[in-house]
Amino acid sequence: MNLSALGRRLASESGTRTLMDDLGAVATVGSEIMNLGGGNPSRIPAAERVFEARMRALLEREGAFGQAVGSYDGPAGDREFARALAGLLRREQGWDVSERNIALTNGSQSAFLALFNLFAGPDAKGRMRRVLLPLSPEYIGYADLGLSPGLFVSRRSTITELGDGLFKYGVDFRALDDVEDIGAVCVSRPTNPTGNMVTDGEVARLGAFARDRGVPLIVDNAYGLPFPGIVFEDAVLAWEEGTILCMSLSKLGLPGLRVGIVVASEATISALSAVNAVFCLAPGSLGPAFATGLVESGEVIALGREVIRPHYEQRAARALGILRAGLDGYGVRFHRPEGAFFLWLWAPGLAVSSAELYRRLKARGVIVVSGQHFFPGLEDDDWPHKHECIRISYADEWERIERGLGIVVEEVRRARDGA
Ligand SMILES: Cc1ncc(COP(=O)(O)O)c(C=O)c1O
Repeated sequence: MNLSALGRRLASESGTRTLMDDLGAVATVGSEIMNLGGGNPSRIPAAERVFEARMRALLEREGAFGQAVGSYDGPAGDREFARALAGLLRREQGWDVSERNIALTNGSQSAFLALFNLFAGPDAKGRMRRVLLPLSPEYIGYADLGLSPGLFVSRRSTITELGDGLFKYGVDFRALDDVEDIGAVCVSRPTNPTGNMVTDGEVARLGAFARDRGVPLIVDNAYGLPFPGIVFEDAVLAWEEGTILCMSLSKLGLPGLRVGIVVASEATISALSAVNAVFCLAPGSLGPAFATGLVESGEVIALGREVIRPHYEQRAARALGILRAGLDGYGVRFHRPEGAFFLWLWAPGLAVSSAELYRRLKARGVIVVSGQHFFPGLEDDDWPHKHECIRISYADEWERIERGLGIVVEEVRRARDGA
């Protein structure tokens, strides 16, 4: 598909477009709307004070600001930042990495566009290789990234009931065995939209599965360890040859800087740098220049541990408490919140679909995300589960979240009662 055809397809059929329009409207209209929808992180004053101090330090350091805004970096991005990060990953994680294993992108979203189309799509003989998403539901932002249609393939997750109205998705490894023509495997961890922390055992098995097929395992670590560290469970972050780890500064509270980070083999990093050169000449320099000290000193990890993670963990508990209290006896379940900043509400047996629930909530000024968008690669599967869930973000200003949750409770009750 050429780019103008792709543009027309995105403009006309994208399942996520109305949603993105709604979220865009929230960004412009602002405070009237209860935004339980987007992926924006919280504005956390203690974190913003750290960022402001770092920005002042950049301005005060002789020549640093001029260098950051006055020159293009190379296509792999700021090398001083990459060296600082490699040092941090060696110290904290014990990984054998250098700056040659690191490339920067303008946000991690653009890394996925590059990586998916590097490793999947039609090969030289025209045979289609696909990105396997072993868990479903999975991140909405992957859905339209294929430059050719049909880039994704997925399988239903397993569902384990944990009692107390909680459940957890798992990888159905037996169902993956018959998937052919895989170019890459990708999983977000913690998972957006569910807050699921794919277990260490599942990651190891997915790594072996990918190695057996000679393809990379891409781990989307936008919310993960070692930073921003929005993980509420004990977990290990593994990296080995063949793993492509995507990270970001966004969920730390810095989405405006657009700093995405890829840690991978040197061969993958040079391919990605070549794509960067075509897409944008070079990734932006101001974000990495600002953040180098934060990474070099290790302050970025302390910030995650002491400020960011406790903030979201407390919110997860409060938000879940409100929904559970309001929906007790209504047959509603929640994915156990294990990380990121979303609650995934599963309401089997409602009189209306999640898309209708979304419309009703929107009419009352509450934006959530209807679940059916989160099943890229499962378009041909008529799994009823796809229409029984909504994603609720608890990152926005708390007073609005609390009001919004109250309305979610009312509308789910109404839909359950058949109204
Ligand atoms: C799972 C996941 N991956 C990647 C991204 C992209 O983030 P960014 O481009 O800001 O790094 C997001 C943003 O919401 C996300 O939720």
